[in-house]
Amino acid sequence: MLTPNLTVSDEGHLLFGGADCVALAQQHGTPLYVMDETTVRENCRGFRSVLQEEYGGNGMICFASKALSCKELYRIVHSEGLGTDVVSGGELFTALAAGMPASDIVMHGNSKTDAELQMAVDSNVGRIVADNLPEMTRLNRIAADAGKTVRILLRIKPGIDAHTHSFIQTGQIDSKFGFALETGEALEAVKAAAACPNLELVGLHCHIGSQILETEPFAEAARVMLGLMNTVRQETGIVLTELNLGGGPGIRYVERDDPKPFGDIVRAMLEAIRKTCAALSYPEPFMLFEPGRSIVGAAGITLYTVMAKKQIPGIRTYVLIDGGMCDNPRYALYESEYEALIANRADAPRTETVTIGGKCCESGDLIGKDMLLQEAQAGDTLAVLATGAYNYSMSSNYNRNPRPEMVMVKNGAVRTVVRRETYEDICRCDL
Ligand code: LLP
Repeated sequence: MLTPNLTVSDEGHLLFGGADCVALAQQHGTPLYVMDETTVRENCRGFRSVLQEEYGGNGMICFASKALSCKELYRIVHSEGLGTDVVSGGELFTALAAGMPASDIVMHGNSKTDAELQMAVDSNVGRIVADNLPEMTRLNRIAADAGKTVRILLRIKPGIDAHTHSFIQTGQIDSKFGFALETGEALEAVKAAAACPNLELVGLHCHIGSQILETEPFAEAARVMLGLMNTVRQETGIVLTELNLGGGPGIRYVERDDPKPFGDIVRAMLEAIRKTCAALSYPEPFMLFEPGRSIVGAAGITLYTVMAKKQIPGIRTYVLIDGGMCDNPRYALYESEYEALIANRADAPRTETVTIGGKCCESGDLIGKDMLLQEAQAGDTLAVLATGAYNYSMSSNYNRNPRPEMVMVKNGAVRTVVRRETYEDICRCDL
């Protein structure tokens, strides 16, 4: 099995986090997002323990909630001692509504509106990551009007080549995010921030990309960013005390994926930090990390019902399901690969190569092409694995499909954490 939270019962049913997936589909309907709380918690603890062991805990792990934003997730990660990264008013609202302390929230965004900045200032979020100069001017004004000084970090493009899909690569110079290092823009931004009386510039941020399988790009980012902090000290006398290295550790989507464990990645970054600080005589900064996918990705699966199978002789076999790009747009966007299996015959050998087609009116609405699956029949329960990240959070109502329910399983016990949308929900904003 792809991950240890997946097993097979004596009846040949897929078990996820101890819960029988066939029973889950019958009792809750499909499509159904299933999250395993134990895996989420283990991943949170894994990140925190590396930070503790390698760096004396001088930092904070902030769950990147763009990977999966709903109240229960914020509650769980908060109870594990994590903060959160939010990237919109909607994520900020949800995090606060779930009881995440504002001081543990990092506010991101390359196009934050005045309303979003106002909300961040009013709620006293711990840190705002400033992306561009006009935003800094607006934030300074909003903070001044509120009689506050807000703590900011600057988003930097460190020019690191991370080997991942170009749509999710973010650290290179040709990126819409942040200030470029190579051009001197970053240093200018530091000076501009220092001149804003209602902004307290405490550090720098970068995020080099997502689903990165190696450790080296992360260690390189750490070295480059510390180098910039040192340049800032030399050029301006400002000693920045915080460094946020974003997220990005990859996960195993299919058997042949071989990502470096996130612990190795964080260790490599912290080792690079310690060595570089020693070499530059720079005080070791407070470190922030923002993992998203590596916390929730493998902690989730999606269950569907097989509606039909279409065999096109000599061409391909489609297995058609009752969900698709509306609940998982990742194949349509990135041609991302997934592993799937028939949950009610999970122990049967995989003998058929199929393309899984969704229910949306669009030929590109696929979950994957040429996937090896057990012989599928209409009525089967299909499980698509490792869907915990960037599925629910990127879902839509395309074709006015209601978003699925999400259940949380914990050692076999099941509870609903997001209810299924109704047709009334879909019409809620129509006048
Ligand atoms: N911090 C920042 C500033 C980010 O932009 C991101 C992801 C993260 C943290 C979390 O990265 P992670 O640890 O999850 O790799 N929708 C795409 C992924 C986009 C990621 C965007 N930023 C996907 O489905 O693969």
